[in-house]
Amino acid sequence: MSQATPTEDLPFHLTGNFAPVFDERTDFDLEIEGAIPPELQGRFFRNGSNPQSGSSPHWFMGNGMIHGVELRDGKAVWYRNRYVRTPLLEEPDAPHMSADGSVDRTRSCANTHVISHAGRFLALEEGSFPFEITKELDTVGAYDFDGKLKTAMTAHPRICPETGELLFFGYGAMPPYLTYYRVSADGKLVQSEEINVKGPTMMHDWNITRNHVIFMDLPMIFDLEAAAAGGMPIRWSDEYGARLGVMPREGGNDDVVWYDVDPCYVFHPMNAYEDGDKIVIDSSRFEKLAFGPADGKGTPSMLHRWTIDTANRSVAEEPLDDRPADFPRVHDRVTGLKHRYGYMAGMGSGADTLGSTLLKYDLDSGKSWTHDLGKGRQAGEPVFAASTSADSAEDDGWILSFVYDAATDKSDLLIADAGNFDAAPVARVKIPTRVPFGFHGSWIADPA
Ligand SMILES: [Fe+2]
Repeated sequence: MSQATPTEDLPFHLTGNFAPVFDERTDFDLEIEGAIPPELQGRFFRNGSNPQSGSSPHWFMGNGMIHGVELRDGKAVWYRNRYVRTPLLEEPDAPHMSADGSVDRTRSCANTHVISHAGRFLALEEGSFPFEITKELDTVGAYDFDGKLKTAMTAHPRICPETGELLFFGYGAMPPYLTYYRVSADGKLVQSEEINVKGPTMMHDWNITRNHVIFMDLPMIFDLEAAAAGGMPIRWSDEYGARLGVMPREGGNDDVVWYDVDPCYVFHPMNAYEDGDKIVIDSSRFEKLAFGPADGKGTPSMLHRWTIDTANRSVAEEPLDDRPADFPRVHDRVTGLKHRYGYMAGMGSGADTLGSTLLKYDLDSGKSWTHDLGKGRQAGEPVFAASTSADSAEDDGWILSFVYDAATDKSDLLIADAGNFDAAPVARVKIPTRVPFGFHGSWIADPA
């Protein structure tokens, strides 16, 4: 069955392969085209917005549904899709405030990302607490780090590959606008720091390096007056400005050094690293983001580099490509460290349009490669799954992404060779249904 197309009354996120699915399926022993590398032992999980009522006011506001595939010994053992069973899903009309007047952080969409840290699988959405799930996608419940998490948690934490720490922040439309958190490798929340920003900025993502974290205080801000009048709660501001805040990982608000940059919005940095006194940040950057009709016309997001010189307190800006692209990823092994390779989803011409390509960048040589998905086929975030050898090349591994085929109205799990990126995929796992376009995911390899 093909899906509806967008109209004035039916926005893009409720049409085509953005539209929700309603069955929670379990399918075993999936059909495969090609051969799944036997090194891939584990699970690919991807989260996305899937409004259970069939409707939501914005693509970002549907209930979270995670789609997962388990790979083992060259087989695709199962496909499952499950809602994250939060109080918002179970009781959609209950109040968002607790009895004491505080925001109830368990009323989560839980729709944005899914990660694994310290033996826990967490579904994330930036306005709420994380939700713990099982390896078979059943919901355990809200997780607040033994009561130490006092705010929402970003959907884009970072795991340091050297220390095993989970570093993240929480932001809010009301004070405290920004709080920094550090979690030890064994899962204990050991540091919380309130950080001053200019106002209620929508801080979707951020950056870490070996010694620092870098906050992005950018001009997409909450406008509660507009929201009260029925408008978009978030808007572009020509007055707010844009800056990057560099802080030592064990520092606090007084240690943050702020650097002004050209106005822009970044949902997703690719990665950041230190190079002597410099900090390099590669991002998918919008010169202007249009979130609602009042914002006028936006620009597409493209790969861009900030180089912060911490010695002379300046920032150099450099566009790295003029092709629209987003959802950047690197090998998890280089998170916060120098990366040579990055992977992105090519985007179409509209903000709501995914492209039919995946991109690989060699940031050392400036070379790039295109993986063409074929006519009528669209993917999303390219997740890097490493080969099992610890001293392997940075691009020794595979790119995983769900690919939707409009001709069949079904999806595949694409497995492409990251080191031979423009070649045909090494395998396609045939999913017996369509997997709606979503947000972020993880390859969670079995423990060695
Ligand atoms: Fe995101």
